[in-house]
Amino acid sequence: PYPHYRELRDTDPVQEHPLGFWFLSHYDDVTRLLRAGLSVEDRNLADGPVRAQYEALGADRAPLVASMLDRDPPDHTRLRSLVAKVFTPRAIAALEPMVTDLVDASLDRIADGGPVDLVDELAFPLPFAVISTMLGTPPTDQTRLRELTGTLVRSLEVVTDPDVIRAITEAEIALAEMTRDIVEWKRANPADDLLTALIAAEQDGDRLSDDELIAQVLLLYVAGHETTVNLIANGVVALLANPEQFDLLRTRPDLAPNAVEELLRYDSPVQQTRRITTAPLTIRDRDIPAGSFIIACLGSANHDERFWGPTADSLDLERQNAHRHLSFGAGPHHCLGAALARLEGRLAIGRLVSRFPNLALDGDVRWNGRLNLRGASSVPIRG
Ligand code: HEM
Repeated sequence: PYPHYRELRDTDPVQEHPLGFWFLSHYDDVTRLLRAGLSVEDRNLADGPVRAQYEALGADRAPLVASMLDRDPPDHTRLRSLVAKVFTPRAIAALEPMVTDLVDASLDRIADGGPVDLVDELAFPLPFAVISTMLGTPPTDQTRLRELTGTLVRSLEVVTDPDVIRAITEAEIALAEMTRDIVEWKRANPADDLLTALIAAEQDGDRLSDDELIAQVLLLYVAGHETTVNLIANGVVALLANPEQFDLLRTRPDLAPNAVEELLRYDSPVQQTRRITTAPLTIRDRDIPAGSFIIACLGSANHDERFWGPTADSLDLERQNAHRHLSFGAGPHHCLGAALARLEGRLAIGRLVSRFPNLALDGDVRWNGRLNLRGASSVPIRG
């Protein structure tokens, strides 16, 4: 998508799209929009075709849009603070031994030889195992969950194809049911984990409703693995396409934290996010009315040469300001899992590169075909 974004930045940075939304592609505009604290509350329910499909099915969408991601203050503040208590920098740092063991177990499987898919062996199972452990979920049908969340995240794009809309709706309903079962199981099997803590918050008066509980868990499940998988898979693809950068990281393992920032910038795991204007807003010379749907393109902002300079399109693991990428968003909804994603990315990519100095592709990379949570779906490699 990057050449297309460049064209938009140069010719139509505040685009009024024929499908009825606005599209921002400059770094400064995207940052300003996300920091402005506009509304997120109606962004899913307002989106016409998906809503119509729900109404046609007679389904209740409430449990799916009750997470912090789709709420404004004061609900947003209340819901975010419940989870933020667990996602402290200290708690995340304490996960390092567990994540290291999980990475090494995956790398052992890769070392066993034979054709190996990086996505199946490392990029998907790692974040999935980490979030499942943190939540304390029962053993779950991973393949089915992966299929369902893969469909669900299409709802983060502007979709017009009725077949896709139907599939998204069905996946959402199935996921809400699965999540309800998981929560019921946890009620009967409490332990020292995030899900038990959220259930306790639900029982503690009016801090969390039933719908909100389901929505938070579902959000963590999806956010926990549909994004980090792209960081790891896209990151490794980018390194393999830039062998001198691969070698740099191999010989300078201390660069791993900055490498993760640069890889997040270079190929953003989440390409866009959305806001609804609560009052008229002027960006550059365009007047955007209240109640408009705006897409802030993180992937484009991360390549905006006005901010990054002439090397915006090259991969440079030593880039000084790489951490200023917008891949985790900005403002009140800034990614709550950023520290966890960074930890997983650093250990997965860093350890893979140092263990397999001759890592190479062993076939064609396939992409998942999504506009927003865009990533490689298959990366055949040999160690
Ligand atoms: C929010 C990206 C990993 C949990 C966000 C947002 C972005 C993002 C862009 C803001 C969306 C918006 O402003 O509308 C990413 C990327 C990840 C990642 C690129 C991996 C590379 C994770 C992980 C978790 C997580 C591992 C937790 C397990 C969340 C939550 C929010 C969020 C709970 C909602 C915050 C709020 O609404 O206040 N993420 N994320 N994310 N992310 Fe992440």
